[in-house]
Amino acid sequence: MYLCLCRGVREADVEQAGRRGLLTPDALISAFGLDDEACCGCCIDRIEEFVVLAQSAAHQAMIPACATTEGGAARRPSPE
Ligand code: FES
Repeated sequence: MYLCLCRGVREADVEQAGRRGLLTPDALISAFGLDDEACCGCCIDRIEEFVVLAQSAAHQAMIPACATTEGGAARRPSPE
């Protein structure tokens, strides 16, 4: 899904930016050129949506795949 029509920014682009460490409004605005004169400015008004999406992707990237099950519940070590 597109988040920014002016710059053609998709959710996946913002998630990738988050995984690369772009997690602040300024970093995301700069990375995607949202402050460009050719843009309508709508996305700067709702930049927090970009930040939440980027931070969520960064957080998910930090969770080791083996720490969760398919259902999302954390695995616990089996008692010995
Ligand atoms: S739709 Fe994103 S700046 Fe215009």
